[in-house]
Formats: sequence, C-alpha cells, structure tokens
Amino acid sequence: EKGGYDHFMLKEIYEQPSVIKDTYRGRLLADKGIIKLGGLEEYIPKFVNADRIIIVACGTSWHAGLVAEYIFEDLARIPVEVEYASEFRYRNPIITEKDVVIAISQSGETADTLAAIKLAKQKGAFVYGICNVVGSTISRETHSGTYTHAGPEIGVASTKAFTTQITVLTMIALKLAKVKGTISKTDYMMYLRELEMIPAHVEAALKSNDDIEEIAKVFKDATNFLYLGRGYNFPVALEGALKLKEISYIHAEGYPAAEMKHGPIALIDEHMPVVVIAINSDHYGKVVSNIEEIKARKGKIIAVVTEGDTAVKELADYCMEVPKTPETLTPLVTTIPLQLLSYHIAVMLNKNVDQPRNLAKSVTVE
Ligand code: M6R
Repeated sequence: EKGGYDHFMLKEIYEQPSVIKDTYRGRLLADKGIIKLGGLEEYIPKFVNADRIIIVACGTSWHAGLVAEYIFEDLARIPVEVEYASEFRYRNPIITEKDVVIAISQSGETADTLAAIKLAKQKGAFVYGICNVVGSTISRETHSGTYTHAGPEIGVASTKAFTTQITVLTMIALKLAKVKGTISKTDYMMYLRELEMIPAHVEAALKSNDDIEEIAKVFKDATNFLYLGRGYNFPVALEGALKLKEISYIHAEGYPAAEMKHGPIALIDEHMPVVVIAINSDHYGKVVSNIEEIKARKGKIIAVVTEGDTAVKELADYCMEVPKTPETLTPLVTTIPLQLLSYHIAVMLNKNVDQPRNLAKSVTVE
C-alpha cells in the first residue's frame, strides 16, 4: 500500500501534486473566475460581516492557520487571530456572536481542537471546520465546513494535509476577497490561474529530491537546526522545524528571520545549520542580510530559493530551488523541500519515519 515508496511519508509527500488538484477540483474554475465551496456559499455573509476570524488548531494544522492569517488579512482584509486550541480553551477567551471560528484538523479528532469548538459554539460563534477525514467528530461538531481531499494520511508527520489545508484556506480567502471587493478583478483572476499551476510547481519542486538527499547526508549528524522565514514563509519555517523534530529527533527551532538578532543569533557557530526560506519576495533584501549575518558567524546556510536566483546562491552553502509563484502562494511550494529534507535525515538516522516515538496520529486526549 506504500505504492512502491519506502515509507508512507514519502508516498504522501509525492502525492501532493495530485491531492492539491483533488482539493480544488470542481471548486476552482480559473477560466471562468469561479470559486465555489459547497459548505461556504450560504455562510458567506457570516464571514463578510464577522468582526474577526479566530482560527483554532494544533501542530501542523496550526501552522496552516498561521499561513491563513497572512492570506486572509492581505486579500480579504478580515482581522484574524490564530490560536493553539489548547491555550484558547483554557484562558476564558472573549468570543462573541460576531466572531467566526475556523477549526483546522486533519484527523477531525483532536481533543483540544474539539474542546475549543464546543466552547466557541457555547458562546454563540459560527464555527467552520476544515477537516480531511470525512465524517470525523470535528466535521460533525462544526456548523459547516470544507473537506480537504488529501486522502488517508498514514504517516504521523503531516505533509499533504498541510498543503491541502492551505489550498482550501486560500480558496476561502479569495472568495471572500471577491465578495468584499478587497481584491482587483485582475489580481483575483491571476491568483486563480496561479493556484491551478501549483500542482505543476510542486511536481517541479519534488525534482530536487536527489539534491536534497545529498544535503541531508551533510547535516544528518547536527544536533540543532534553525529554520528562518518571513511573512508568508514564517509559518513554513515553523513547520519545517516541526517536521525535523518529529521524525529525526534533532532539536530544531523555527523563527521569523528578523527575530534572529533578538536572541537566537547567539546560538550560531560553525556547527549550526540554518535553513533559510529566501525566495523572491518583498523581504528578499532583508533575508539576504540575515544570511550575511549568519555567514559572518560561520553558520551553515541551506537556502530555499526561487528558480533562477543568483544573490542567495552566492552566499548559501546549499540551495533547494522552487518555482516562482506569487508570494501569497509560496508556502505551497517552499514546504516541499523542507518535508524532503527532514524525511531523508530521519531515514539516514534509521528512525521510524512513519511512526516516530511518543507520537500518535491523532491526539485524542487533552
Ligand atoms: O489531526 P490534526 O490536524 O488535528 O492534528 C494536529 C496535530 O496533532 C498534528 O498536526 C501533529 O502536529 C502532526 N504530527 C504534525 O506533523
């Protein structure tokens, strides 16, 4: 059932081009400028009139929520807060009937997320679910929602669930932006076309697999890793670090690149690999200076760069290329090399990639 792959995780990484397509199939009609999500249509006024959107989730799903915060605020101009379900639940949060809560969960069974949903419902909020498992508890407990169509995710380390969650969240944000008029017609059409091209871009990103395996060989014995990204790619840095921790048991931290100088820079020496998402974006110049600061302290740079990049390539020790796409959509491609890097390191260290120690696929206790 691993379809010729050594592990479910690798199979699931490679399924991403097709499951992202499955997730938007019939929902995104780029030529006609249409996004149609069954569970959303009748609740659009709730979203449009909401004071704010509160996203609740755990782990990788929480990272997808952080990406969504950037997308929703940028495109649809709706204030978003992203909460760890476990923290939200226990701090007497302020929730009103004017709030829309989005719960994100691959399994649809995560106890903390479920508890947060129950609380939000009690307080009168409208709760929208984004789940992968059809008929799961969270999909039933929410007022409405959209399924990701990632198919069964067996590997404990979440991969295709993450990219399909972001796909759904992007479609919701674009739909709301169009209804609210916060996006120009030209940009809207451009994003729809670009979203349709993501599966091909992911396919292209996967082509770097052999190079990434070589990079993994070089760094597999490191005891710490730092992951840096800015803007839309800050949550991707967190996700990259989580992937490495979970399956290789190497300590890794994700940080917004600009925060480095407020503390973590003290950790940098010749033994510290730093994975930097340094794609072409508004922050490119700033990220290049972050890389220079790391090099000056002898840190080793593994950079995720846009195809055709030159400046970062000159500075970085190793590069992993991804195709060019609008910045808003970059998390869907920059995530790929990070998944592969953690996968190869874990395999080289002989770890149980699909079932890492101490972890369960769904966490059903609070
Ligand atoms: O099923 P859920 O999306 O609710 O799960 C949330 C987290 O437990 C999950 O993402 C976890 O962090 C993964 N093992 C990450 O790879």
